[in-house]
Amino acid sequence: MTDIRTKNQLSNILCIFIKVFQIILYIPIQIIFIPFAIIGLVVGMYKEMVYSKKLGVSFSAGQALQYRWIMHYFDTRPDPLSVAFIKKFPCESHFGLWSIMGALIISQRLFGFTTSLGKLVEPGEENLDSTAGIRVLAFDRIMEKYVDEMEQIVLPGAGFDLIALRFTKGKNVKVFELDQVNTLNVKNETLKKAGIKHDWITYIPVDYSSESWVDKLVEAGFDKTKKTLFLWQSVSLYLEADIVKETLRNMADLCVEGSVIAQDFYSKAFSLGEYSTMAKRSMSLIENMGELMKFGIDMSNDPKVAVESFLKECGLKKTEYIQFGEKLDIEPFYCIVEAEKLLAT
Ligand SMILES: C[S@@+](CC[C@H](N)C(=O)[O-])C[C@H]1O[C@@H](n2cnc3c(N)ncnc32)[C@H](O)[C@@H]1O
Repeated sequence: MTDIRTKNQLSNILCIFIKVFQIILYIPIQIIFIPFAIIGLVVGMYKEMVYSKKLGVSFSAGQALQYRWIMHYFDTRPDPLSVAFIKKFPCESHFGLWSIMGALIISQRLFGFTTSLGKLVEPGEENLDSTAGIRVLAFDRIMEKYVDEMEQIVLPGAGFDLIALRFTKGKNVKVFELDQVNTLNVKNETLKKAGIKHDWITYIPVDYSSESWVDKLVEAGFDKTKKTLFLWQSVSLYLEADIVKETLRNMADLCVEGSVIAQDFYSKAFSLGEYSTMAKRSMSLIENMGELMKFGIDMSNDPKVAVESFLKECGLKKTEYIQFGEKLDIEPFYCIVEAEKLLAT
């Protein structure tokens, strides 16, 4: 017993020693990067905030893309497509991101200096900080699970996510991406400039709040008799509750047997900015850029039951459920859910 305790103490001291040594090595690299980081910050902020506003594209979609770049360089999810895309994307700066994060990336690669950006937490241990990365990986797994059995995949509010390109290339599946016109135009132009082939994907410009996305989807060749995966990642938070319900009801109507709707939900407290000051701060930039958080589910009692009954209202039945932070002693804030059409009894 005493032996084990001594061993643990020694290993803790060794870990602290290694960490201090890594910080000592990291500091001079970071100092070299400072002048580049200042320029990169200005260029990056201009492109992300000023230029994206000028082009009328979704800022939140740009932020989600940025996180995929981070995951690539911090070795938590290789994503050469998103990196190639960002290099030609007018609303983000590859140089800016490198100049700000380069010292950390190099330090992680050279001598294993890892920050939260280079770590993935265990299932159930997600907090607000680790949600972005774990969410991306969870949707990857959903795509992997269904890509071979589905005949159609629909991504309403695809933004600059390249998940469809990544998983459906060469597969026998029809893919439809929907988003607002400016966002999709910039996505198409950037894909062309980056030389990324995307001719098997149909892009459908639509604004859910004022147009029928179902009509547009059907006009574009969606077949109502085919098995479909709907992938609705990180969109409902930004829509009015009645639009979320209507969109889900429409998806349910389009589902034949075997179709799946995969989506995520934030809690009501999160969407109202009441979850925590950190959550409020982390979303304030997106809100200042004009994308307000509008929808969340009341998760304060039993989140699973709340999600289940919300889905039922929309004609859906929950089949899979992942509650982030389930093993931590924190208030529920986010979940990923798979659902199928609720059959009349
Ligand atoms: C946070 S982004 C998520 C993008 C993508 N699903 C991802 O995970 O990277 C939200 C997306 O929803 C889209 N969106 C929001 N409101 C919309 C609306 N009324 N009509 C169509 N798309 C909308 C935005 O343009 C944006 O691309």
